Amino acid sequence: MGKKIILTGDRPTGRLHIGHYVGSLRRRVELQNSGEFDKIFIMIADAQALTDNADNPEKVRQNIIEVALDYMSAGLDPEKSTLFIQSQVSELTELDFFYQNLVTVQRLQRNPTVKQEIKLRGYSDDTEGTDNKAGTPVGFFCYPISQAADITAFKATTVPVGEDQEPMIEQTREIVRKFNSVYGPTLVEPEILLPDNAACLRLPGTDGKAKMSKSLGNCIYLSDSAEEVWAKVKSMYTDPGHLQVSDPGKVEGNTVFTYLDAFCKPEHFEKFASCFVGKKVSFEFHSLDEVKAQYRAGGLGDMMIKNFLNAVLNDILEPMRTRRHELEQNIPYVYEVLRKGSEVARAAAAETLADVKRAMRINYFDEGVLEELIKEQTEKYQG
Ligand code: TRP
Repeated sequence: MGKKIILTGDRPTGRLHIGHYVGSLRRRVELQNSGEFDKIFIMIADAQALTDNADNPEKVRQNIIEVALDYMSAGLDPEKSTLFIQSQVSELTELDFFYQNLVTVQRLQRNPTVKQEIKLRGYSDDTEGTDNKAGTPVGFFCYPISQAADITAFKATTVPVGEDQEPMIEQTREIVRKFNSVYGPTLVEPEILLPDNAACLRLPGTDGKAKMSKSLGNCIYLSDSAEEVWAKVKSMYTDPGHLQVSDPGKVEGNTVFTYLDAFCKPEHFEKFASCFVGKKVSFEFHSLDEVKAQYRAGGLGDMMIKNFLNAVLNDILEPMRTRRHELEQNIPYVYEVLRKGSEVARAAAAETLADVKRAMRINYFDEGVLEELIKEQTEKYQG
């Protein structure tokens, strides 16, 4: 008891982008390196990915290595964190099965994230239709319960995730309280850990749309080349009213500034001072507030701030690219990390499953239990 344990993960449906990075991945790496946690489990949630990709298992299979490479190149270290694949820990499905009895259909229907995802995927209520989009897959609808199994299996105290995962953590906490009150104290109630900076909570896409998402084509991927990043930054939305460099510009809702809020560090102003040296005008900035003030006043062009953002992004992404290229040359090692990690995760989940079965009194064949059961039932029939 009293251990500090992290469990978190991502669905392997694509490469990870900078929204994942500021939303959760950067924090995980910091927490990992803080040495404050007894155990850290990072899960590639392939089984959850299959809940809405049942007909496309190959997509999930291909993206496991992509996510693993992104994780490790961003700084998750297999020596410090257990990286594993969800489907390889079958204990999770057993926990899920028992937790299903503690949650109502009506409660699941209220989950705002699932509701929104159902809409986004176009699952319609028209179950008469022949279109395979008619109706929501049961597994998808129930994934918050499966996620509670993921979290509690590792007795996680801390779940660093993005804002959209808040309803899942709340559902998990309810299941834990219900389980413990019905069967006795067994499970640990987790806390969510959200990014502390508003820009990181939900990083918009490069087009300024609410969310970075693969289907919208507005992502900057951690594995993008410097050329790809620059092409995307160059085409980013700024302030549509900022037509002339001399015009006052708006910072609020200006995607370049939102990204700077999320990524820029104090040392970047000195390191990339040359971005603000132009043919006609030059500036010397020491903080993002100064850059914003100048932009608002006018005279600071979009090209300068884009150049600066590009430098800031590449400062963060370049070391990741280097690590990724190294890891890409050593694929057997990456799979070995996942295989070993899945074994370690399985052992941890098996302990919790045994606790759960004991608490639920369905551990008939555990040491000592069978003898007791035989005695009890023999007395019943012969007494
Ligand atoms: N739902 C998460 C996502 O969409 C992935 C996930 C599955 C997860 N199980 C989890 C995250 C448990 C945190 C804890 O990315």
